[in-house]
Amino acid sequence: MKSLLSIEELTGEEICSLLALGHKLKAERGHHAEQPLAGQTWALIFSKSSTRTRVSFEVGVSELGGRPMFLSTRDTQLGRGEPIKDTARVLGRMVHGAIIRTFDQQDLVDFAAYSGLPTINALTDLEHPCQILADLLTLEEIYGVGAWRGMKIAFLGDVDNNMGRSWMWAAKRLGFTLALAGPQHALPKPETLAALDCPSIICTTDAAEAVRGAMVINTDTWISMGQESEKGTKEQAFFPYQVNAELLRHAAPGHSVFHCLPAYRGYEITDDVLEAHAGAIFAEAENRLHAQKAVLYTLAQA
Ligand code: CP
Ligand code: NVA
Repeated sequence: MKSLLSIEELTGEEICSLLALGHKLKAERGHHAEQPLAGQTWALIFSKSSTRTRVSFEVGVSELGGRPMFLSTRDTQLGRGEPIKDTARVLGRMVHGAIIRTFDQQDLVDFAAYSGLPTINALTDLEHPCQILADLLTLEEIYGVGAWRGMKIAFLGDVDNNMGRSWMWAAKRLGFTLALAGPQHALPKPETLAALDCPSIICTTDAAEAVRGAMVINTDTWISMGQESEKGTKEQAFFPYQVNAELLRHAAPGHSVFHCLPAYRGYEITDDVLEAHAGAIFAEAENRLHAQKAVLYTLAQA
């Protein structure tokens, strides 16, 4: 593994290895035998806001012996229009790895190609692979290693967003059942589903059907970063897909609710549900650190 640009480009085996390493690094936090990033500087290049991703990567790089360097596109020449391929060729001569949060997946792909650096997707409009690795780590902590086998996982709301797409590729690679529920216009396009060719992905406009028998029920904001102008027009159509106590009556006994955060209470999730499932939801946030350390560790050894 040279970079982590998407879940799509990982194999099931690679996902399982990253999860196993994530569990190990979490158990060994504070007394790691090796410092694989010693002497290295990793740039965090962010064009969008972040709390969890920025903090977990800055802490993770440091704990593995490296130095994180945060670069907001507002303060670099990227914000004034310097092309990504020029920025990439400059940074490629100075730093040892890059962690990028941006809009267009192609910018990430171009950065990796022009810099030659190990490059990590810290969220694009297309995918959010680090969050999915943290979510799978959390699922395994709650239900056991490999417990996603044969499990039904539901994702409700704006299901064709970066989180939904990463979940779809995880379902394809690992083979669990993924039920996606949202308004018709927000369901994955037929060409997306054809490219995935994954019979264990179910799409429905019926929220109860998606949740029925599901062990993990996921949601995310209805308005992803960059879509703020669609607020209002977009929101109304999503209310039938709100994760609330009534809907969760259809879920499997012992179910968990996941949310990548930040959450918008009263919209995609109710306050009572978020608070009832805060243990799992904040474990997802914590596990960003451990899952990403597994990614950094693996890339440092490539
Ligand atoms: N879940 C997540 O990526 O959070 P941030 O936007 O705070 O980084
Ligand atoms: N889909 C959300 C995820 C935030 C972590 C967004 O892109 O804003």
